[in-house]
Amino acid sequence: MIGSLLKAGDVVALIGQLGAGKTYLTKGIAEGQGVKDRKEVTSPSFVLIKQYMGRMPIYHFDAYRVKSPDEMYDIDCVGFFWGEGISIIEWADKVMECLPDDFIKITIETVGQMSRDIHVSYQGERYKSFMEELKERVKCLK
Ligand SMILES: Nc1ncnc2c1ncn2[C@@H]1O[C@H](COP(=O)(O)OP(=O)(O)OP(=O)(O)O)[C@@H](O)[C@H]1O
Ligand SMILES: [Mg+2]
Repeated sequence: MIGSLLKAGDVVALIGQLGAGKTYLTKGIAEGQGVKDRKEVTSPSFVLIKQYMGRMPIYHFDAYRVKSPDEMYDIDCVGFFWGEGISIIEWADKVMECLPDDFIKITIETVGQMSRDIHVSYQGERYKSFMEELKERVKCLK
């Protein structure tokens, strides 16, 4: 649902404990963007960034092992954020200073083995219509 609403240049910050489901959600977003094989989508913990091709590129970051935001700047994260694709950052709370002013923030909390609380918010005017559309779609699910 979220994946199909995202546009080129959107930035999604994922926050949640180990095993909360950040990669799992990224798989769903990638699928919503037309990535055919969700198995392709795995945590880029060691490589820091992976790229998939859906209707547009998806840049999947994982800041778990990042010790300093400089490591993000070293791979030109800003170039990706301003690029023609969608950026998704796992452990975004570790590299908040690298993020653009406007971004979507998704917090995932484990509430049971098979159950998660997912909180979506945004910063900046850019995502106002995204949020309105998401609310509409969630309403239809109820
Ligand atoms: N919404 C969900 N409902 C049920 N199970 C889930 C959900 N999201 C994830 N899981 C399960 O939780 C496990 C961990 O998920 P995932 O690898 O996505 O976590 P993560 O937040 O990316 O962890 P890490 O911090 O290690 O990267 C997986 O086995 C997955 O199947
Ligand atoms: Mg992960």
